[in-house]
Amino acid sequence: MLSLSLSHMFGDTNVLRDINLNFSKGSFTAIIGPNGAGKSTLLKMCAGVLKPSQGTVKLKAGIKRAYLPQHNQLDRHFPISVHDVIAMGFWPKIGLYNRLTQIDKNRLAHALAMVGLEGLEDSPISVLSGGQFQRLLFARLWLQEADLLILDEPFSAVDQPTTEDLLALLQNWILEGKTIITVIHQLPLAEHYIPQSILLNRSVIAKGPSKEILKDAALIRKAYVA
Ligand SMILES: Nc1ncnc2c1ncn2[C@@H]1O[C@H](COP(=O)(O)OP(=O)(O)OP(=O)(O)O)[C@@H](O)[C@H]1O
Ligand SMILES: [Mg+2]
Repeated sequence: MLSLSLSHMFGDTNVLRDINLNFSKGSFTAIIGPNGAGKSTLLKMCAGVLKPSQGTVKLKAGIKRAYLPQHNQLDRHFPISVHDVIAMGFWPKIGLYNRLTQIDKNRLAHALAMVGLEGLEDSPISVLSGGQFQRLLFARLWLQEADLLILDEPFSAVDQPTTEDLLALLQNWILEGKTIITVIHQLPLAEHYIPQSILLNRSVIAKGPSKEILKDAALIRKAYVA
């Protein structure tokens, strides 16, 4: 449903080289590589927020994307409630000032329960822990009803139990028919939860089943020292 055939320069620096990738419907893919490997740049191409300096990104017609950037811009000290942040997930559909229908409210409650935040609707987001905040972002993402989810390091400030909870949630979403691409630094968790992996360091070092390529120490070394 998404195919990339591209290279990208920032100034004189060739940040992505000869990238040829296809993501099929229902696939769940980890993007793995060292700092500066071009992972976020690649995800921006997937999300359509950055155009490659050479080549193309093709998305099947009618496919809806949702993108969670690496550093969330939302100020966690802003005086806004859990309910209002998650309700932002509806904005694309209803606009900022329209009221939520009862169906929307039920879906909102369902999304909060799904991520384990039930009962916290009226709390200000400033009281949430880092892990709870990430759960909130996942609930909002689910409400966007996208087919293709593009997640840049959604687990970077999250402890292992919460990361595993959220990965299990993503596995459920795959079963519901979604397609997911995520950057992740925890290799053992990627191997366990995410069927496909791409090792990236400016170019694609390897791609294939996580259980094969993430076990291959020589490949990992190649990606991390290249
Ligand atoms: N807008 C930009 N202008 C110029 N250079 C950029 C820009 N964005 C990224 N770069 C450079 O491109 C390279 C790849 O950056 P990118 O953010 O894609 O890496 P990354 O793999 O996501 O790293 P990290 O693990 O630290 O998030 C880096 O050298 C970075 O400095
Ligand atoms: Mg990045």
